[in-house]
Amino acid sequence: MAEVVRTEREGEIAVVTIDAPPVNAINQAVRAGLQQAFAALRADPTVKAVVLVCAGKTFVAGADIKEFDTGIGAPGYHEVYRLIEDSPVPVIAAVHGTALGGGTELALACHYRVADKGARFGLPELSLGIIPGAGGTQRLPRLMPLEAALDMMISGKPTVAAKAAEQGLVDRVIDSELRSGAIAYARELLAQGKGPRRTREQAVQGADKAAELLAAKRAQVAKTMRNRVSPPALLDAVEAAVKLPFDDGLKVEQAKSDELPLTTESKALRHLFFAERDVSRIPGLGKEVKPRNVAAVGIVGAGTMGGGISMCFANAGIPVTIVDAAQANLDRGLATIRKNYQRSVTRGSMSEAQLEQRMALISGSLDYAALSTADLIIEAVFENMALKKEIFAKLDKVAKPGAILGTNTSTLDIDEIAAVTGRASDVLGLHFFSPANVMQLLEIVQCAKTSPDVLVTALDVAKKIKKTGVVAKVCYGFIGNRMMDPYGREAERCVLEGATPAEVDGALEKWGMAMGILAVYDMAGIDIGHLTREARKELLPKDPSFYRPTALLTEKGWLGQKTGRGYYTYPEGKRTPDAESIAMFAAEAKRLAIPQRKPDATEIVERCLYGMINEGALLLEEGIALRASDIDVVYTAGYGFPRYRGGPMFYADSVGLAKIVARIEEFAKTLDPQYWQPAPLLKKLAAAGSSFAEYQKQQTK
Ligand code: 3HC
Repeated sequence: MAEVVRTEREGEIAVVTIDAPPVNAINQAVRAGLQQAFAALRADPTVKAVVLVCAGKTFVAGADIKEFDTGIGAPGYHEVYRLIEDSPVPVIAAVHGTALGGGTELALACHYRVADKGARFGLPELSLGIIPGAGGTQRLPRLMPLEAALDMMISGKPTVAAKAAEQGLVDRVIDSELRSGAIAYARELLAQGKGPRRTREQAVQGADKAAELLAAKRAQVAKTMRNRVSPPALLDAVEAAVKLPFDDGLKVEQAKSDELPLTTESKALRHLFFAERDVSRIPGLGKEVKPRNVAAVGIVGAGTMGGGISMCFANAGIPVTIVDAAQANLDRGLATIRKNYQRSVTRGSMSEAQLEQRMALISGSLDYAALSTADLIIEAVFENMALKKEIFAKLDKVAKPGAILGTNTSTLDIDEIAAVTGRASDVLGLHFFSPANVMQLLEIVQCAKTSPDVLVTALDVAKKIKKTGVVAKVCYGFIGNRMMDPYGREAERCVLEGATPAEVDGALEKWGMAMGILAVYDMAGIDIGHLTREARKELLPKDPSFYRPTALLTEKGWLGQKTGRGYYTYPEGKRTPDAESIAMFAAEAKRLAIPQRKPDATEIVERCLYGMINEGALLLEEGIALRASDIDVVYTAGYGFPRYRGGPMFYADSVGLAKIVARIEEFAKTLDPQYWQPAPLLKKLAAAGSSFAEYQKQQTK
């Protein structure tokens, strides 16, 4: 194995290079390598300064996340970083790419920091349910003002080099080649007679205002990072930095860092880190399958979805042609896109010039012939099979050979759509979520005949437009919406059983969902789901209570926020319980003779989630979803499922599958048994004392 840490000499300067591809993550081997290198340098009196750099595309991007599963092998972070900080000659970190987590902490343990002008520094540990555990909570507030340090650690967002320099984290931003710039900087230090400048010997900046600030941050995380354990632990460690001598503070940090990786929160977040990277690995498809080039995109339909999707491509610098049947639609669609961009300009996240650049990439046409040069064409008209088939027949005529034809349908049978073309192998589903320019998730629906390179192209395109692309096979609702079906069904049924909409939503939100499902319906438009169900009425359960509240609201014309009332009313835009709709649901429950169980918060959450999980197990069995972890990514990226619970399938594992099966079997007795039959896979895994994670491991062996 190549050496992960090497030392070279440039006269009196030693250059230590970490070379651990792909992102120089620190594991036991890197720590041991650093220990060996710095111990040797200490013993060498001819070395006057040390420059620490990284090979490849980035400075250390953090601790090796996999090591948290096995425990941190010796030597530990503190031991190695202390050795570096103790160096009798100045140590200069030279940072490029993204210094993250243990990488930023490594730079903090050095005496000076220089950075490439494109470098960024971040401490994203909270996003993994842990805290900076290599001295970051103690050293950062000694180098920059406490408030800025707290913001950096709480937000997890990387800071660019120039800003880091302003805040005191970086001593010099280097415009030229980094390694030689860092060596020159080291020589300047020596010429000025500067020696080691140890971070731990500095005072915490702004310690006098710490009590107030920490109290404010505690209140902030209690509200915005509800149900989480790592944010308060971070604040405890920073409080220790303020109140205790460095070494004692470090012990507080260490104790918390030892415990946090063992929490379900951290395991869930680490699971998602790898799950999000696994989604683009398709079993059976090797690296030899290359993506097609997508340099120009066509969109059919200038409505909300078409416009949002166009923005995704324009944002990635890819030209888009939108075709619509009516000039008025095109004009309206383009105006909406401009308005959306204008909002970003007003907010300050985009310049006028950028707005014009993006608008220049988007053109409209009434003529399908304008799509003849597109490499990828996405149909985004409303959900109507006949209309979509007509469009695909037209696209088949105008699209160039090799062009990929995608549909943004959320429910329809894409195999049926593909069959109207003479090129079914080039057809697939590209299910964006609304608003398409904002939402992270893209469901990529592989049809029976979709060719492997078309699938790989879709995954590649997802990355280019900064979406999380997850592959699903064809079925009603694919992964996301199919699992929403039992979730919403139970929420609505709970309303008929006497829980108010606010109680149902409150239970789900308290548990961690970003928004209660009934509030979501109000926001999206009550009629949307209702009309989809009406279109496939004959396939639905023969149950008069099935999604009845939504049907009632639609009949009344109370369609949610767009009409000012739905499950709730909206006086002055504020979501408020609506006595009238509650009375209407109660009357309907009476008419249908539905027992008034008045389910409590625990039952509401269990019914909604266990119904969803059971459907997830069916999707796995049917091969609609490739992996349990893909389902978790769909839900956390697209449906407001709390990341710290890891997604529905991870959550199921954390509850225990046997417990879930037992509850489902109980519900089969106390509720409507047609909905409460445990999926065979769920039952089998539960009986074997196994888990979805274990099943996935077996599958991919
Ligand atoms: N540990 C283990 N593997 C890692 C890793 C890490 N910290 N960071 C990245 N990787 C792996 C990825 O899993 C991926 O592997 P794969 O190719 O087998 O799927 C590969 O490196 C490349 O990563 P990306 O696909 O994400 O590459 P990008 O170029 O898109 O992004 C990055 C690079 C910005 C560095 C991104 O990978 C990232 O954000 N990494 C995580 C950084 C992080 O969270 N660090 C903190 C770790 S916790 C810590 O440091 C604790 C400390 O306080 C002790």
